[in-house]
Amino acid sequence: MPMRWNPEIHPDEITPEGLFRQRRQIMRAAAGVGVGALLGLDPWHALAAAGKDLPDVRSGVVTTADKETPFLSATTYNNFYELGLGKEDPAKWADHLVVDPWSVTIDGAVGRPGRVALDELLRPHPLEERVYRLRCVEGWSMVIPWVGFPLGDLLKRFEPGGSARFVAFETVHDPERLPGQSRDILAWPYREGLRLDEAMHPLTILAVGMYGKGLPNQNGAPLRLVVPWKYGFKSIKSIVRITLTEEQPVTSWNAHAPEEYGFYANVNPAVPHPRWDQSKERRIGTLWRQDTLMFNGYGEQVARLYEGMDLTRNF
Ligand code: MTE
Repeated sequence: MPMRWNPEIHPDEITPEGLFRQRRQIMRAAAGVGVGALLGLDPWHALAAAGKDLPDVRSGVVTTADKETPFLSATTYNNFYELGLGKEDPAKWADHLVVDPWSVTIDGAVGRPGRVALDELLRPHPLEERVYRLRCVEGWSMVIPWVGFPLGDLLKRFEPGGSARFVAFETVHDPERLPGQSRDILAWPYREGLRLDEAMHPLTILAVGMYGKGLPNQNGAPLRLVVPWKYGFKSIKSIVRITLTEEQPVTSWNAHAPEEYGFYANVNPAVPHPRWDQSKERRIGTLWRQDTLMFNGYGEQVARLYEGMDLTRNF
């Protein structure tokens, strides 16, 4: 059962902090080696790729009591088409993504547009852990402890103008290194978008890490979006551009197959995808299927954003 949203409850109030961390590390290490071996991957590869230590991560809000997905599953079963179509490809080809140096352009309807080096972009934002469910449109789900900060805090710094209604995001475009971008799968670079009120919602974060460490490349290093009430494809990886717009931006999957992937992509068990039933999901690491929750269980926090909208048309 999902726990009721309570921003006041921190994981260290449920379990003493030291014990909580220790228990999680042991579980992760044990689970990771098993999954890696099953997939025929070197279990240490993903660990080695998993970025740097992060400074001062606060234990933030816990939005689910569900068991965390083992680290190795979350880092070896990925969707990142720039690094291949198979679920294990992104971990295998992770080194092709060069994340240092990295900068992000913030432009469009903002008072202070510019291209900012990653360090400078992150400096004012305290990092916190957010344990979120992630539901993929393909019918599987995970529970991931992200490390990040609210996207809204970053947007405010760049002063959104009165005409801004949407936020568009772009992934790095580097076909010489990213093998998937030479294939005609999507119109590259990968693009995503949110309505401005969705982007400003406190549950929407930019993640720079997971499981207490920097993001592995296969999970979207060095900076990715996480919107927990939407299907996983909205959570764009390896972001290099954030643009505030007046018009609804073009997004990759919606442009590719509009009848299959809506702009909103809110998790909705009542609206089936043409190829996947959305009423159930399989939690990675388990064999059975469980009910999918409206808005992925975050309805209490986000349903008001969609009041008066027909969610079968605006899927
Ligand atoms: N971002 C980019 N740039 N390219 C992608 O192929 N896949 C999306 C999303 N972000 C994708 C992306 C999809 S379909 C999902 S389900 C999530 O990333 C998966 O995130 P994870 O691999 O960290 O679980």
